[in-house]
This record gives sequence, structure tokens and C-alpha cells, in this order.
Amino acid sequence: MKICIILGTRPEIIKMHSIIKECEDRNLDFFIIHSGQHYSDNMDKIFFEGLELPQPEYMLDVHVQGHGRQTGLILQKVEQVLLKEMPDIVLVEGDTNTVLAGALAAAKLHINVGHVEAGLRSFDRRMPEEVNRVLADHISDLLFAPVLKARDNLIREGIHDENIYVTGNTIVDAVYFIAGDKSSGQGNVSTNVSTIDNKDYFLLTLHRQENVDNGERLKNIFNGLGLVYNKHKKPVIYPVHPRTGKMLRDFNITVPYGIKCVRPVGFSDFIKLQTNAGLILTDSGGVQEESCILQVPCVTLRDSTERPETLEVGSNILAGAEPERILECCSYMLSKENNWDNPFGDGKSGARILDIIEGYYKA
Ligand code: UD1
Ligand code: UDP
Repeated sequence: MKICIILGTRPEIIKMHSIIKECEDRNLDFFIIHSGQHYSDNMDKIFFEGLELPQPEYMLDVHVQGHGRQTGLILQKVEQVLLKEMPDIVLVEGDTNTVLAGALAAAKLHINVGHVEAGLRSFDRRMPEEVNRVLADHISDLLFAPVLKARDNLIREGIHDENIYVTGNTIVDAVYFIAGDKSSGQGNVSTNVSTIDNKDYFLLTLHRQENVDNGERLKNIFNGLGLVYNKHKKPVIYPVHPRTGKMLRDFNITVPYGIKCVRPVGFSDFIKLQTNAGLILTDSGGVQEESCILQVPCVTLRDSTERPETLEVGSNILAGAEPERILECCSYMLSKENNWDNPFGDGKSGARILDIIEGYYKA
């Protein structure tokens, strides 16, 4: 059995980590294709280094912008590699353009596709990620749903139950790998914010297309963050995603006083920043999960979420983009106790997924 692992962005590197490690530990025949969708050192290389991952065998270097060009170029280049290597199964993770292109290239060559983190739904087709994940699910042969709700979504769409495996989310594996590392709870975060005391700051991430490519909405969100600082007087640390940095410049938006912009940080540093934050504000998928796992309250700057478990256990609230609502949601989350259960699994999802794949090819 030959496995091909396709990845291309920061969250895919993090969430494929335990699967790659399992392949290494089991001495399996596998190789990695990196699409190049993320390419800056602090969006790519630091994660390979921090998570001790092997270098990809194939670097496709697709650094272009625009959904059509990006997806199309990755599709073409992945197809060339797959034709040469002809693996038995291609694994993709999540909902990016890399995932859609990788899954599509494999499916057209009649190579099995395994979709890690299958079945998530925001039910908002305006999000490029929703389109990608629905399409990827429907051309996959093995669907690794992280939670029961994701399995239910797939069954409702007519996907056969026997192709779906509920495995937990590999983000728990990655968090435990880093948080279990004794060095990660201590020491300085390599930004200029390392002197801030525990729980004496809030943490922000913001990069979702529908938030940052719309000038009015982006302004509203930062106005809301300004209100949050004025009320709580806690600095809001913001590792700026490159997409958002560009849009803030293009729209000429001045970040309010109290928001401390820093460069994106490595995974271990970001886990430290989350663990020690009083509150997390985000529009990230992964950060909604991690804040839940790390028992830090989260305010999501979106109108919908494909992680409804976080709302159900009470770790997260949807704030949208209106300033007053953002302020209210922060106050509400700060008033609550942080004693919810982690719904995302036991940190052994990577091993479980490899057990299923090995069993599938032995049968
Ligand atoms: C992509 C994914 C999104 C995911 C996010 C993770 C799609 C449709 N979107 O969004 O689902 O949540 O990654 O962070 O696949 N850039 C750099 N350096 C980089 C990467 C990007 O400067 O290493 C800049 C480029 O100007 C690029 C822009 O950021 O055009 C957007 O990058 P892109 O990968 O197209 O989308 P993301 O917003 O990162
Ligand atoms: N992350 C990081 N450094 C940062 C910001 C985020 O390591 O400066 C990690 C975070 O811990 C999470 C992942 O990046 O695991 C989330 O990626 P992102 O928000 O870009 O994508 P999404 O999860 O929304 O697809």
C-alpha cells in the first residue's frame, strides 16, 4: 500500500502531523505533496520545523492568487505527480483549495481519496471552504468524520454509512503533542509580547475571506475590538495573517489602540499564547477547536460555524461583525466558568485513521 499525503496551508500541516508521524512509525510507504498554497516561512517552514516533520517529496510551488488559478494549477500539478507515483490512496485534510484540487486529481485517476475532517458544514455556501469541503466529501472513498454530527451531515447528503469513520479530530493529537512537551508551557514566546502576564491579554486571529475582503465588515470588526479594549483594558495580541495585513493596507484601516499586531508565530508559541489568554477572538476553524480543548473562552467573529460542538459545550459564541455585539459577546464569555468537556476526541485520531486505512487494504 502506497499513501500520498497532500497539504498546502498552515492548518493542513498541523492537522496532518499525527498522520505523517504514524506513517513514519509504522514504516509505511508514503510521500508528501506540498501545493505551495502557503509559502512564507512563518506560514509554512516554521510548522515543518516545530512539528519535526519530514520535507515533502514534491513541492509544487503554486503561489498564485485567485480561486480558479490556484485550484486549477494545483489540480494540474498534482495530477502529474499522481500519474508518476500511482499511490493506492491520497489523503487530504480540511477544506482549502489544495484539498479540493488534490481530491479531484486523485478521483479522476480512480485513486482512492481519504478525507480527513470530513462532514463539517457551516451551511453557508458563500464561504469558499464550504464549497471545497462538500465537493471533497462527495468524491472521497473513505471519510474520516471528526465527530458524530459530521457523520450525520454526510449521511443526510446521501453518503454511505459504511464509508464514514468517526475518528476524533487530529487537532487534539497536535495540541497534546505540543502541550505535552514540557518546554511548551514555559519560556518566552518569540514575539515582542512575551512579557505580558498570564490571562492579562486577549488573543485575536482574523483571516476569513468574507471578513477581511469586505472593507465595511473589516472596519466594523476592528471598531468592535476597539470597544473591547476600551471596556476591559486588556491588550489584544494579534498575529496578523498575510491576507489580512494586505487588506488592512488596501482599505487604509487603522488598527485601534490596544490591538498589538505581531507576525504570525509558530504552533508551540501560538498554543502558549492561547493557553495564557484571558479570551480568544477568532474567525479561524482550528482556533475555535483549540480554545475549546485548552479551556479558554472563545468569541467567534462570524455568523456561522462548522464547529457547532463548541457552541453546545459553551466554549464559544458567535458574535458576527457588529461592534456592540462583539463587545456583548466578550463580556458574556468572560462571565462564564470555563469547565466544558472537549468534544473533539482523545488525541489518538491519527493512529485510528491509519488503523482504518491499513485494515481497508488488508481486507
Ligand atoms: C487559506 C484557505 C482557508 C484557510 C487558510 C488558513 C482557501 C480557499 N482558503 O486562506 O480556508 O483557513 O488558508 O490560513 O483555500 N499569503 C502570503 N504568504 C503565505 C500565504 C498567503 O503572503 O504563505 C498571502 C498571499 O497574498 C495570498 C493571500 O495571503 O494571496 C491569501 O492566501 P490563500 O492561501 O489564497 O488564502 P488564505 O486566506 O490563506
Ligand atoms: N496558528 C499558529 N500561529 C499563528 C496563528 C495560528 O500556529 O500565528 C495555528 C493555530 O494554532 C491553528 C491553525 O494555525 O492550529 C489555524 O490556522 P488558520 O486559522 O490559518 O486556518 P483555519 O483553521 O481557519 O483553516
